[in-house]
Amino acid sequence: MISVRRAAPGDAAALIALAEEVGREDGRWILATDSWRSPGEERKYLRVVRRHPDAAVFVAVTDGRVVARLSLARDPHPASRHIADLGLMVGLDYRRQGIGTRLLHEAVAWARASGILKLELHVFPWNEPALELYESFGFEREGYRKGQYARDGGYVDAILMAYHVS
Ligand SMILES: CC(C)(COP(=O)(O)OP(=O)(O)OC[C@H]1O[C@@H](n2cnc3c(N)ncnc32)[C@H](O)[C@@H]1OP(=O)(O)O)[C@@H](O)C(=O)NCCC(=O)NCCS
Repeated sequence: MISVRRAAPGDAAALIALAEEVGREDGRWILATDSWRSPGEERKYLRVVRRHPDAAVFVAVTDGRVVARLSLARDPHPASRHIADLGLMVGLDYRRQGIGTRLLHEAVAWARASGILKLELHVFPWNEPALELYESFGFEREGYRKGQYARDGGYVDAILMAYHVS
């Protein structure tokens, strides 16, 4: 059985292992593996996020194991405080079981409770699973960002997607 809860500082090691696993895949995750936080930084980040009203990290857990993560952060600009940015990763062995969708529902519930009207994210143009997931959930493509992210010594494009919270 899969359960979803807010991440705790004690999840830091598991979340770093998850990020490393996903980061090793062929160009799916936006940040390269070596840019991820250290265990100490991650623990500190999770501690701060738990007390912060403008950010949240949710995890999916099965058999006591953290297998997926969804992070949210409200845009700090005073004119864009109705928007939050979202990041999502599901462990390789746990995909196509509805976990990504379940975490997105959790994100929408958090957004509603936080007065967020729009969720947005960037996805690489070649990341078909993510594009399929987000579009099946109701995200729309809002733009195409050229040379948006540094990767492998160059800059790659990204698709900007958004979900309007009703
Ligand atoms: C993208 C990702 C989050 C999807 O998570 P998931 O838990 O497998 O998604 P779900 O099981 O909820 O899938 C829901 C729907 O999305 C679509 N989908 C998901 N993965 C797909 C794939 N590999 N191919 C085609 N469609 C896919 C399907 O419509 C699916 O419904 P179905 O299984 O009933 O056909 C996961 O593959 C992942 O973590 N990838 C690596 C990291 C990443 O790319 N994150 C997003 C970066 S922006």
